Amino acid sequence: MNNSETKQMMSQYRDAIESYLEGVFPENSEDATVRAARYSLMVGGKRIRPALMLMVADMLGAEREFIMPFAAALEMIHTYSLIHDDLPCMDNDELRRGMPTCHIRYGEATALLAGDLLLNSAYEILLEQAITHGSYAALAGRFMAKSAGGVGMIGGQSLDISSFSGSVTLERLEEIQRKKTGALLTAAILTPFYASDNHHSNKELCVALTDYASHLGLSFQIKDDILDVESSPEVLGKSIGKDAACDKATFVTVCGIESSQKRLSEEYDAAYNALNSIKNLGFDNELLLSFTDYLRGRTN
Ligand code: IPE
Ligand code: IPE
Ligand code: MG
Ligand code: MG
Ligand code: MG
Repeated sequence: MNNSETKQMMSQYRDAIESYLEGVFPENSEDATVRAARYSLMVGGKRIRPALMLMVADMLGAEREFIMPFAAALEMIHTYSLIHDDLPCMDNDELRRGMPTCHIRYGEATALLAGDLLLNSAYEILLEQAITHGSYAALAGRFMAKSAGGVGMIGGQSLDISSFSGSVTLERLEEIQRKKTGALLTAAILTPFYASDNHHSNKELCVALTDYASHLGLSFQIKDDILDVESSPEVLGKSIGKDAACDKATFVTVCGIESSQKRLSEEYDAAYNALNSIKNLGFDNELLLSFTDYLRGRTN
């Protein structure tokens, strides 16, 4: 796929996801919390996690209708994590997805509740999937819950808020990044594997997908750390320079920009290697190859 075909592919996936998300919360609700949740969910965003999930599902031959609710639930969990991450008690950011953050637009208390509502509504969707589709859907939902929880995203955020650039080892930094960011990307990749009964016994596929997820997850956060230094608010849609200003533990603040670039490149190479293994197992990896190229070239 060339560059413009990849862009077109991403925008088709994005459109499919947005049209589903559009129906999650009503427009013009009388309840400010619902309005705030809808605002943050629909205000933009690259939709990387649900798009990735749909691509893995397409590669594995899973039904779009069956996977879409999982993909939406993941984007809702991600969006709640952003609302809370931006609160004054955490990163204290005013710009997100090119727009005022949820608490700037709706106030802190409503933003807190909007995050809660997104999380809760995601679990309603996951439980509905389990009730309708049975045990494999329940397994996938449980995996997503675990990825978002104490050993995943929340655990990573918890380490993140108590870590500063001078006080973390590289090992701890990687742990933070794998949890706070890698875990939800891993959920995007493995949920279609757990949810559909076709490939469950394929242990080699599980290993290769997990390997791909691990390198993609780390590369994603390293790039986020680099963009905080190299991008601009106009392009990135969020504030820049705050990681260093707040002494956050990031790849750039801990290892420097050059080492971060080098490590980023190594992580992409390892991700491409994992995609090769997936191909060698008989799966068409073209969508994921293009997706990885897209992430590699991203500027926001
Ligand atoms: C931002 O995620 C938070 C991180 C984990 C680095 P994205 O860069 O995917 O943000 P959106 O969804 O496109 O706004
Ligand atoms: C946040 O990491 C990861 C989350 C779980 C939300 P960052 O704090 O670096 O994300 P941005 O830069 O605000 O998007
Ligand atoms: Mg943060
Ligand atoms: Mg932040
Ligand atoms: Mg960041």
